[in-house]
Amino acid sequence: MKEGIFEILENLPLTDSVYRMVLSGDTSEMTAPGQFVNIKLDGLFLRRPISLCELDGDLMTLIYKVVGKGTAAMADMVPGQMLNVLTGLGNGYGLSEAGDAPLLLGGGVGIPPLYELAKRLRAEGRKVTCVLGFNTTEEVFYAEEFKALGCAVTVTIRDGIPESSSEGRITEAAPGTENALGTGILYKKGFVTDALPVEYSYFYTCGPEPMLRAVFKSTKTSGQFSFEERMGCGFGACMGCSCRTVTGYKRICKDGPVLRKEEILWDA
Ligand SMILES: Cc1cc2nc3c(=O)[nH]c(=O)nc-3n(C[C@H](O)[C@H](O)[C@H](O)COP(=O)(O)OP(=O)(O)OC[C@H]3O[C@@H](n4cnc5c(N)ncnc54)[C@H](O)[C@@H]3O)c2cc1C
Ligand code: FES
Repeated sequence: MKEGIFEILENLPLTDSVYRMVLSGDTSEMTAPGQFVNIKLDGLFLRRPISLCELDGDLMTLIYKVVGKGTAAMADMVPGQMLNVLTGLGNGYGLSEAGDAPLLLGGGVGIPPLYELAKRLRAEGRKVTCVLGFNTTEEVFYAEEFKALGCAVTVTIRDGIPESSSEGRITEAAPGTENALGTGILYKKGFVTDALPVEYSYFYTCGPEPMLRAVFKSTKTSGQFSFEERMGCGFGACMGCSCRTVTGYKRICKDGPVLRKEEILWDA
């Protein structure tokens, strides 16, 4: 873990409430996809944890949704401003178990940490399938970016697909059917678990807890889950994020946020 000062190079909206921030600084502690950073914000006691979306030398991309005071303050920031950031937090995803054809399942702002993972899996020559879940078509982000990495991409929309999206790109699909669009991305009404491919070697997932529970039940291979628990310190000192696993209590911030399927115990 390292505390560093980062310069904001970019901070732009991807949708009505989701922003992409590019930071420049000492990224030496960021070694694995699925790790996260903890951002200090003026007037707020607790830092805000955000996952690494992409790492490119000393550039770090984060994608965050505005949900409260901290993320609203982040959305108001402009290039040139400096941010105090704790880097190198969490264990991150392990790539060695991925096999030839890993499956990546993401929901909402659980999608960003899967991007650096997809980039690295593709660089190793693996055939990557991504299923990205959103509530509405207006919320969709980064589908094209995953496609550009050479992943097979399906986007699932909980509320279904209207006749034309804001971009005029998405056309009606009868419930339960699929339509391949110009971008080569498949859009489907439903949840990520409605679009699981028949064959895959392993899976990686991040998203809201109901989605993670559904993925746990619906997947037939082993895999890794990233949890976005509420946190206190963010680096293992306060026990505020501890959860029960098969091998005893673990701190999501330090022993996680990634847990293997075999370790997970769901509270009722
Ligand atoms: C490991 C990890 C990675 C994350 N990665 C991302 C990401 O890549 N993109 C993204 O949009 N969000 C991510 N989150 C969630 C993000 O941290 C919260 O949405 C954010 O802290 C909310 O802060 P706020 O001040 O805007 O909201 P408030 O609700 O005002 O925050 C109040 C307090 O609750 C905490 N908190 C609120 N919601 C969450 C939450 N869902 N998870 C954890 N703590 C929360 C805040 O840190 C703060 O301490 C991640 C969370 C964790 C734990
Ligand atoms: S947030 Fe303090 S131990 Fe995890």
